[in-house]
Amino acid sequence: MEETKETKGWIDQTLPVDWGKVKEDLVGEILPAHMKYWWYCLGGAPALMFLVLIVTGFLLAFYYVPHPSQAYESVGRITNDIRFGWWVRAIHHWAAEIMVVTVALHAIRTFATGAFRHPRELCWVSGAILLLLTLGTAFTGYSLVYTQQSYWAMTIGTQIASKVPLIGPTISRFMMGGETIGPYTLNRFFVLHAAILPTVIFLMIVIHIIILRIHGVSEHLVGIQREVIKGLSRGDE
Ligand code: HEM
Ligand code: HEM
Repeated sequence: MEETKETKGWIDQTLPVDWGKVKEDLVGEILPAHMKYWWYCLGGAPALMFLVLIVTGFLLAFYYVPHPSQAYESVGRITNDIRFGWWVRAIHHWAAEIMVVTVALHAIRTFATGAFRHPRELCWVSGAILLLLTLGTAFTGYSLVYTQQSYWAMTIGTQIASKVPLIGPTISRFMMGGETIGPYTLNRFFVLHAAILPTVIFLMIVIHIIILRIHGVSEHLVGIQREVIKGLSRGDE
């Protein structure tokens, strides 16, 4: 029987999209054989860790209090009193560590195999921005715990920012919410950590993946060398 408007399901009527084509576009890409080695597809690891961090981060944010007089105690409450709080906090902590390590390994892999070369410059640049954003989010995260170590990390971080030529002092004042580390500093670090930086990371990952999908992944390094050698020998002939 031919499918008419009446015989279609509710979803197909309300959202008349070719779902088969959407699925094909999302997961049907044909990849070169070398992508089966884990070090060639390391980019998936930070993407997965980012999802874990969003879920556990929101759960932590339900109980965390971003005020100097209560931040440390609230983290203690999450760890000792809230049911499964210690577990969610540990997952958040380790997912952050794994994200930082795998982003660095992914950057080393793309550098070592020359995947940054023309025409993939923008993929590399968006990746480099992602690396800085990830480090910034981890730094603000450690500061939220508000131990002595966090306090001095905040002091050093804001002082480093103040040394940027021309705009440094403005960036540092913006981060601290005044001339010195105070209640606004922790509040601002919390907003940066839990809202602004994750949103920018998300948008940057989308841009990174769109650029990646436009070009497709790079050829295997040895494959490229063979091509170049073949090309040269053709030119010599
Ligand atoms: C949150 C951080 C990041 C995520 C989620 C991410 C995700 C991905 C994914 C899924 C791929 C597909 C191939 C693969 O898995 O290796 C990829 C490719 C690529 N990424 Fe990233 N990436 C991130 C950070 C970076 C960084 C820090 C750099 C470099 C500074 C970078 C540069 C590249 C380049 C050049 C490619 C193309 C690789 C090729 O064509 O072989 N990415 N990225
Ligand atoms: C790229 C994403 C993220 C990274 C790398 C990251 C990293 C971190 C790190 C390293 C800590 C310190 C953990 C510890 O030693 O206790 C932390 C704490 C925290 N993060 Fe995140 N985080 C991310 C996303 C988020 C998001 C999206 C939220 C909320 C919506 C969030 C909320 C929190 C809160 C409330 C704390 C303080 C509680 C605690 O220390 O356990 N995080 N984060």
